[in-house]
Amino acid sequence: MDSVRLAVFSILISGSWCSVTKDLKFPEWFKFGAATAAYQVEGGWNSSDKGENTWDRLFHSNPEFSSQDNGDVACDSYHLWRRDIEMAEELGLDIYRFSLSWARLLPNGFANKISEDGKRYYNNLIDGLLEKGIEPVVTLYHFDLPQILQDLGGWANPLISDWFADYARVAFTLFGDRVKTWLTINEPLGFCDTGYSKQQAPYIDGEVIAKYLCNKYTLISHAKAWRIYDEEFRPRYHGKVSLATIFNWYEPATPEDKEITDLMREYWEGRFAYPIFSKEGGWPPTLEKFMADKSKQEGYSRSRLPPLTAEEIELIRGTYDFYGLNHYLSRRIRKARPGEKIGTWPLYGSDEINIQMESDPSWETTGLDWFPINPAGLRKQLHWLNQTYGVNEVMITENGYLDLDKHLDDTARIKYMRDYLEQIQLAIADGINVTAYMAWSLMDNLEWLGGYGASFGLYQVDFTDDNRTRTPRESARYYSRVTRTRSLHHDHEGLNYV
Ligand code: GAL
Repeated sequence: MDSVRLAVFSILISGSWCSVTKDLKFPEWFKFGAATAAYQVEGGWNSSDKGENTWDRLFHSNPEFSSQDNGDVACDSYHLWRRDIEMAEELGLDIYRFSLSWARLLPNGFANKISEDGKRYYNNLIDGLLEKGIEPVVTLYHFDLPQILQDLGGWANPLISDWFADYARVAFTLFGDRVKTWLTINEPLGFCDTGYSKQQAPYIDGEVIAKYLCNKYTLISHAKAWRIYDEEFRPRYHGKVSLATIFNWYEPATPEDKEITDLMREYWEGRFAYPIFSKEGGWPPTLEKFMADKSKQEGYSRSRLPPLTAEEIELIRGTYDFYGLNHYLSRRIRKARPGEKIGTWPLYGSDEINIQMESDPSWETTGLDWFPINPAGLRKQLHWLNQTYGVNEVMITENGYLDLDKHLDDTARIKYMRDYLEQIQLAIADGINVTAYMAWSLMDNLEWLGGYGASFGLYQVDFTDDNRTRTPRESARYYSRVTRTRSLHHDHEGLNYV
């Protein structure tokens, strides 16, 4: 038994999920990264021929959101991409995850017109990263749909899967020679469930129906894009494609809540992942039955979870090369009590499946009640994924600490990163093939409708300065030492993280 396995073995036999080990090193093949998304950082909202997207429309047309907090300039990465690359280099990153703005590359949403400036921007970014030895990880869609497609029904229109497939083919054709890791869609839950409950763009009240149409057509869109890559590009480029799913750790509040927690996992993650990652494909069976019964009880003539035909099940099943996991926090799940007011989905509870989400008193907090910190939850999550799907490889596509205070001395973020990374080390030593970690985020950015009030950045961005000056936080210094030493426990400039 090597020293890593020995250290983990002793933790496992001591029965602890959260013991601190001092001498684990990340394997050479493990990739450290950081992540951003186009609308949150790029700005240049109407530069050159870029088309309007749903976030541009939401911020510009709703008086209630017409403050400074929109993505018109954001971090101005459209102009400051050289500095972004420099920061990635300072951090010693192996990979940098960013997303393409669909409306920047295809100004009218369809693939008949490709923007020369859009193409140049992403080529510059990709080539600049590669020159520094940093691999680009590219997300095709991170919440910003061309408005023209939204006007045609967006993700609730079945035709979107063809529009998305065309867009994916353009991106693979233009950049596939240099981009070897692709994420088709970021967090479908993050725009289907919230976009159709007026929490995110397109900011529509879609009752219960729209989010499930969106759910189904994102799956089909993803599957078509994956198959295009598999058939037309993989033989030449040998890359990997998956999607990024948000999946925090959910555990039953009491032993009686185990069944409802299983249902909750299908409701949170299974709707977006089971059809792709499970051996049999299709909707998660318990949830499918639950939604059919519930729809009937409520007088609908068909289930709100639209059926998947045998052909669709086969189209979607197995369309992955790894599991992309966005993971931030843990929650405890319990059945709602009769008459109790249920918290808002997806942060506090769900009326639809009658649950409340809580924190365990032993978990630390970021200061936000819905964001408790429980690093051991990540390792449990990885075990759950391994047992449920037997996935070959997991990449942590997002993980990060939300700070309400935007100071540079972010000791709490360092502790968060160290503790979550440690759980990844332990999971690797348990035999789970976790190959990458992408910190959210490289820098402070527009936290959607949350604006610029909270920070996730390793670099602080001064949004009052026209130059959008980026300054490394203590966490950036810490992370750059982690990437270089491949170890978590060392004296960090007197901060003594050992
Ligand atoms: C994720 C999302 C990111 C970022 C992050 C922090 O759900 O993909 O864009 O906003 O949360 O809240």
